Amino acid sequence: MLTARIAVVVSGGGTNLQALIDAQARGELKSGNIALVIADKAGIGAIARAEKAGVDCEVIIRKEPDFEEKVLSALTEHRIDMVVLAGFLGIFSADLLRRFGKPMINIHPALIPSFCGKGFYGLRVHQAALDYGVKVTGATVHYASEVVDGGQIILQKAVDVLPGDTAEILQRRVMEQAEWVLLPQAAEIVAAQIVREKELNV
Ligand code: GAR
Repeated sequence: MLTARIAVVVSGGGTNLQALIDAQARGELKSGNIALVIADKAGIGAIARAEKAGVDCEVIIRKEPDFEEKVLSALTEHRIDMVVLAGFLGIFSADLLRRFGKPMINIHPALIPSFCGKGFYGLRVHQAALDYGVKVTGATVHYASEVVDGGQIILQKAVDVLPGDTAEILQRRVMEQAEWVLLPQAAEIVAAQIVREKELNV
C-alpha cells in the first residue's frame, strides 16, 4: 500500500513524537509512515524515542549556520512527503516552506487564535492561559504557514482549566486529553490526502 513518508521535527522530550509512533504501531496512522525524525538539539529525549522505535534520526543543530539548508537536504534525501512539527520550538522561514512545497503541520498547545504566535511555546503558553484566567484551553493542529501559528486549522480540542492548576499540571492535562489524540488524527488526515494524490498519479 502507498503511504506518505513523514518527517517529524522535534526540540524536546518527544511525547508527541511518541504518540505518533504509537498510533502507527496501533494501525491508526495507517496512511503515513514515520521515515525520519529531525532533532534540532543533541541529547533531547525525542532522540531516544526515535532510536527505540527504529526510526532514522538526524540531529541538525538549530543554532548552527545553514540549519534550514541542512533540514531541506534531509527532507529531500529521505523523499519526505509531509512534515509534522511535534514540539519544534523554532520557526521555519517562508523560504523554507516554499522550497519544501509539501504539507507541513504543527501542534500548538492552546486554542488558536488564543495564546499563540511568536514567544508562545511550551510552558509559556499554559502560564499565559493561567495568567489570563481562561477556564477552557486546549490544543490545535494547523498547517504551518509564513504567519507563526497562523495557517489553516485542521483539528482543535478543548480542555478544562481547573482550580489550583500550575503551568506544569495544565500542560500535562492538555497533552493527555488533546495533543496526543489530535496530532496522530491530523497526521492521518493529511497523509490520507497525500496518498489519494499519489494514487491518482501512478
Ligand atoms: C508540546 O506541548 C507542544 O504542543 C509544544 O511543546 C511541547 C513539546 O512536548 N509546542 C509548542 O509550544 C510550539 N509552539 P513534547 O516534546 O513532549 O512533544
